[in-house]
Amino acid sequence: MADCILEMKHIVKEFSGVRALNDVNLQIERGEIHALCGENGAGKSTLMNVLSGLYGFGQYSGDIVYDGEVCQFKNLRDSEDKGIVIIHQELALSPYLSIKENIFLGNEQGTHGVIDWNLTEKKAENLLKTVGLKINSATLVSQIGVGQQQLVEIAKAFSKNVKLLILDEPTAALNEEESANLLELIKEFRRQGITSIIISHKLNEIVDVADKITILRDGQTIETLENEAITEERIIRGMVGRELTNRYPERYPNIGDVYFEVKDWTVHHPVDSKRVMNQQINFTIRRGEIVGIAGLMGAGRTEFAMSVFGHSYGSNISGKVLKNNQEINVTTVSHAIHNGLAYVSEDRKAFGLNLLMDIRENTTIASLDKISSHGRLDKEKEISISESYRTKMRTKANSVFQNVGSLSGGNQQKVVLAKWLMTEPEVLFLDEPTRGIDVGAKYEIYTIIEEMAAQGKCVCIISSELPEIIGMCDRIYTMNEGKMTGEISRKEANQEVLMSLMTKDEEKTEVV
Ligand SMILES: Nc1ncnc2c1ncn2[C@@H]1O[C@H](COP(=O)(O)OP(=O)(O)OP(=O)(O)O)[C@@H](O)[C@H]1O
Ligand SMILES: [Mg+2]
Repeated sequence: MADCILEMKHIVKEFSGVRALNDVNLQIERGEIHALCGENGAGKSTLMNVLSGLYGFGQYSGDIVYDGEVCQFKNLRDSEDKGIVIIHQELALSPYLSIKENIFLGNEQGTHGVIDWNLTEKKAENLLKTVGLKINSATLVSQIGVGQQQLVEIAKAFSKNVKLLILDEPTAALNEEESANLLELIKEFRRQGITSIIISHKLNEIVDVADKITILRDGQTIETLENEAITEERIIRGMVGRELTNRYPERYPNIGDVYFEVKDWTVHHPVDSKRVMNQQINFTIRRGEIVGIAGLMGAGRTEFAMSVFGHSYGSNISGKVLKNNQEINVTTVSHAIHNGLAYVSEDRKAFGLNLLMDIRENTTIASLDKISSHGRLDKEKEISISESYRTKMRTKANSVFQNVGSLSGGNQQKVVLAKWLMTEPEVLFLDEPTRGIDVGAKYEIYTIIEEMAAQGKCVCIISSELPEIIGMCDRIYTMNEGKMTGEISRKEANQEVLMSLMTKDEEKTEVV
């Protein structure tokens, strides 16, 4: 190989007897963008955690050869000293510190234990310029969006003089524009000679950006692809071991009357009450219908779903929710659940899961009435039901007794879905349901969603992936700046039409 910056040889990593990595080999050439692909639980994040020293020397077997020398990193700092920086799948910034404080957290600038704030600020501003983030470095991280946080993470990596940048699903939570900008940035780094390893389930992005792709399956290296072999179909074949002819199940909708209705829904920001997050929204779902809401980040889609689901967003809300022409009470989450509503959050760590509990407990927690009688929990039922969801969704875990905190990102997402499916809701809101989920598992989840619709349930999908909205939904609403800006049928929908509705500014169009 020409100039190899990194070689990982025969890496084996076990977690209490289970092999997450089983003889993995990886070679990275200096200056390239190398992608890692594989199904949920294949071992991608674990491999990068071994490389970065998070699972330090002694906790794995095999060799890491970096820049020509065998390295035995004991912790993250050891690998960072060599210029290897990892940005984790779940962002790890401190929300209540400023951008500049976050960038230099643990690496404070100054002398004799005193922080030099002028120097910190100057350096931070320079780094923000490098990553193209035009924002004051004194801004708190809690006040910026996920896309910008991702850039702060990269700026932080650059403060450490990065040579090998590892990005674990950097675009999972970004919209198309933000993703495109980030990918451009990674290409720019390549021009500067920086090597990157990128993990992503968005195969179109991988095809666009990667020079080489290594595929992992069940903790083993399957193959490395390059040049003309880099196509989505070919990657999928490597990942799942077979062709996947359709990305979406065939849909034969059987749509009935309007069942679920939201009328004149207006929602104010919980803290800044002058800010209107949803304005006069009218929305319906028919029985058996899958409805989509498309919009850019900040359009108010999540605020809409959360406020309908038991007023979980703020309390300054007006409007009505009707089911079968009857107004229902959705002022608390338990009222909403009692009235047959469910909401799968886009933020599984904050709202969706209890990471300290196991799969069994997380799956059943919103449906305890279904597994108890006379106030007592039926433990066997709890196990058998959660086991059946685990099998159905092919959640990769040792058993339902595994803590969800130790599951791979995509498999955690499957547990959140199982939890809400188990409540057997009549109206199901899914907010970014397939974020971080591999292509094969997406198909399984889509099939489950279709089954629900076929049973006459109402489904609403909020998604930033337009192909998913178009592939799954019978009718699509578009939102922009808290307002509904359009409503189109599946037949009329394509990416261009949706984009133009998603960016439509109601007031301006009226003036013109
Ligand atoms: N701390 C842990 N304890 C036990 N098992 C673990 C732990 N961390 C990871 N695993 C297991 O190792 C396997 C590989 O997980 P990993 O997170 O590397 O997958 P991944 O390829 O990154 O998947 P995804 O695409 O879903 O992020 C999974 O089966 C996971 O459950
Ligand atoms: Mg992962």
